[in-house]
Amino acid sequence: MITVRVPAKVNVQLGVGGLRADGFHDLANVFFAVALGDEVTAEAGEAGEGVTLTCTGPDAASVPLDDSNLAARAARLLAAHHGLTPNVRLHIAKAIPVAGGMAGGSADGAAALVACDALWGLDTPFETLLELAAELGSDVPFALVGGVALGRGRGEILQPLPVTGTFHWVFAVADGGLSTPAVFRECDRLREQAGTGSSEADVPTPDADPALLAALADGDPAALAAALVNDLQAPALSLRPALADTLRAGTEAGAIGALVSGSGPTCAFLAKDAEAAVAIAKSLEASGTCRAAHPTYGPVAGARVR
Ligand code: C5P
Repeated sequence: MITVRVPAKVNVQLGVGGLRADGFHDLANVFFAVALGDEVTAEAGEAGEGVTLTCTGPDAASVPLDDSNLAARAARLLAAHHGLTPNVRLHIAKAIPVAGGMAGGSADGAAALVACDALWGLDTPFETLLELAAELGSDVPFALVGGVALGRGRGEILQPLPVTGTFHWVFAVADGGLSTPAVFRECDRLREQAGTGSSEADVPTPDADPALLAALADGDPAALAAALVNDLQAPALSLRPALADTLRAGTEAGAIGALVSGSGPTCAFLAKDAEAAVAIAKSLEASGTCRAAHPTYGPVAGARVR
């Protein structure tokens, strides 16, 4: 039996370009891996059993256990790549909010790739795992890489970034999720409404912010807090206006930076240190503007056998 630990992500910069002909958006996506994570276990199944999936955790009821689950798809994709018939029991111990903008489903896909690779003794080159991960979804390669990385293209072309020290975060989990495609569609709609247009021709290709990269390299939380930016925040707030109350509550509780995580609805808060993160999480839970709040830290490594 193999157990793989895999991190969630927050995007410290999410610059969204115009809508491409293939339905995706070009991004300048600075991914940051945090210790809040899932564990995926892979155990050999009987011959003919195929891929089976179970899940535990507070949100387990909202995790799909059919073929739409990226962990099951990852096991099948890796087996097909090697010409194998997969017989594996996958179990997800779920801590990452579901449909929360923290790439939890993508994390489970990456973890299943690593777990099945070890269980089946395949020793697949890391470059090949990255290619398979990109087939599964835009955020899956980063969950393999971890740390901090700039994602270009639809987010799958990764360049690791230098970072100093540890940053302390709080994640406020909302009731219910938001659909990533719906938030991207709302982003396009708001751009059309503003008269700027939403196509590749209308929107300049986003680039990483040098001030943000310097803040990460210097290990400077105040500078990172000032540079946090997410082009999906306005569309997420448009679909879920109550998130503004969550962002305000975290800021009033002493967070030095606040933003919606990815496509939301989870809100991310940067704290000046670990102690402040615990206090901000307590205040957020008491504020009634979120379902739960978790202090954590990063960056941490990508999907690894435990
Ligand atoms: O790649 P993934 O399957 O995670 O993407 C889910 C959806 O999110 C896409 O179908 C698309 O609607 C949207 N998306 C996008 N631009 C990206 C990444 C995702 O429009 N760079």
